[in-house]
Amino acid sequence: MQIVYFDHNATTPILPKIQEKYPEWLAMVGNANSIHSHGQHSRGLLENARDELCAIFHANHCIFTATASEALNLAPKLWDSPAITSMGDHACIINNPAVKPIIPLTATGLVDLDFLENYCTQNPRPLFLMHLAHNESGIIQPFAQIAQIIHQHGGILVGDAVQYAGKYSMNMAQIGLDGLVISGHKMGAGFGAAGLLLMEKPAVNPLIYGGGQEYGYRAGTENTPAILAMVMAQQLSLEYDWTAHQPWHKQLEQLCQENGCQIIGHDRARLPNTSLIIHPSQRGVDMVIKADLLNLCLSSGSACSSGTSKPSASLLAMGIAPTLAQNSLRISSGLGQNGSDFQKCCEILTKILK
Ligand SMILES: Cc1ncc(COP(=O)(O)O)c(C=O)c1O
Repeated sequence: MQIVYFDHNATTPILPKIQEKYPEWLAMVGNANSIHSHGQHSRGLLENARDELCAIFHANHCIFTATASEALNLAPKLWDSPAITSMGDHACIINNPAVKPIIPLTATGLVDLDFLENYCTQNPRPLFLMHLAHNESGIIQPFAQIAQIIHQHGGILVGDAVQYAGKYSMNMAQIGLDGLVISGHKMGAGFGAAGLLLMEKPAVNPLIYGGGQEYGYRAGTENTPAILAMVMAQQLSLEYDWTAHQPWHKQLEQLCQENGCQIIGHDRARLPNTSLIIHPSQRGVDMVIKADLLNLCLSSGSACSSGTSKPSASLLAMGIAPTLAQNSLRISSGLGQNGSDFQKCCEILTKILK
């Protein structure tokens, strides 16, 4: 039976154009730090990819890492500063002991701007790490306004653009971002590469020590094929017309509503590929398992570990009761999917939501 994949916010299949290029990239033997011509060939491709990525985001510098989790853990080290974040941010930010998740979300899923303003008045020069679009709900934060508040108080803003970057073009200088993080496997590049884009070069204070790669900011031999794939995927994603996904998601959400579900962030600016629903009586994990048995891949907002499932922290931060928060189900589409894929998804959803 053909897989119906609607879990693109978790990870994405490798794009066909990248699959075509991969054998050529894998055939390269050179370590980008070697002096011989094969190494220098890799170095040339790597630096070209760095320049292209900087140009896409209007950034001045870029540090390649293996994952976005690593890049977001690196940020507080580079600025050598404790950081703050929102209560709804990704676990790779919230679980870092150097980051305090103290900024509440409003009931609509947005960062509480009054709280942020007050916090910054009392604690000037904050380092704020924050998602630009939420991985569960797809809700887009008012990041230009947030940047203004942070900068008025002499702070630094690093945007977690893991879910946002492949959907919209961005000019870091115009938005007011000091740093921005992307992840290759969220945009059709496969695993192994992520990037921290920067406006200014911070002090060299790495998370990983070693041979001085990435200009001393991140030791470890660069994964050249994965980096080339990530930059190509970023370009392809920005050429893609995501607007077609909006009516398909709307239809799918209508079906969910007819089955008694509520749609999180239905009246908010959201990513064009994400629907987060709450079922009145079924747990998210149960619906994911039922869907899986019918070959539809979805995700629940709950974090599962040791056989128990905890309700999504970000839904709790929005004031949703734990009993309802554990009934969340995320449906996330991806580049190249069409009306027929959505139709198959809806047919299976009809069976599992009852
Ligand atoms: C918003 C967001 N930030 C960060 C990450 C971590 O990305 P990676 O898997 O590259 O470490 C994810 C992954 O789910 C994410 O959705």
